[in-house]
Amino acid sequence: MSGLFITLEGGDGSGKSTQSARLTGWLTDAGHAVLVTREPGGTSLGLELRDIVLHRRGEIAPRAEALLYAADRAHHIATVVRPALERGEIVVQDRYIDSSVAYQGAGRVLDGGEVRGISMWATENLLPDLTILLDLHEADGRDRMAERTKYDRLEAEADDFHGRVRAGYLALAAAEPGRFLVLDARLPIDDLAAAIRARVESLLAG
Ligand code: TYD
Repeated sequence: MSGLFITLEGGDGSGKSTQSARLTGWLTDAGHAVLVTREPGGTSLGLELRDIVLHRRGEIAPRAEALLYAADRAHHIATVVRPALERGEIVVQDRYIDSSVAYQGAGRVLDGGEVRGISMWATENLLPDLTILLDLHEADGRDRMAERTKYDRLEAEADDFHGRVRAGYLALAAAEPGRFLVLDARLPIDDLAAAIRARVESLLAG
């Protein structure tokens, strides 16, 4: 595959959308073909699954939740992301496998290795070339989220859940330092954008 697969990860309110827009902006200006996408919900099937997993009233058993995210991912990778990578495009994606391991694994009761295994099966083992982790102390995420009026099902979870998610992300980054770029989400937007740009430029050069 000749394209480049870049994912953004981080807690709710860590600034992923802002950095995705900045990254996409300069890549496009530099003449690259860029596909911007996200999980859950990067396809029409995915939007239906996203609605279930984020807005359904009532309980979803943890394994069912993990499989819903994996189903969204399987369809999204097969029909959108792999074809774009095969065309040589740069894919900039909000959330991927690491979200599942951090949220369904570390954040809940499932084993992180098993959750990862399900996603690897779902995607025929597609890992990103680069994963940008916008690391945010959970209290800061809450502050930013407080400005929004309506929480979805996951955003309404207690702070200790978000603390476990953050710890899960940091453990993933420590295990694969070559794939991850970890940045303090409290840095100014321009500094974050510059750090991301420098790393992507070196990937493109290499
Ligand atoms: P979204 O509104 O896209 O959140 P954000 O703007 O923070 O990315 O909602 C996605 C939610 O789904 C988010 O709380 C994280 C969660 N999630 C999982 O729990 N597992 C997953 O595999 C993915 C992709 C997302």
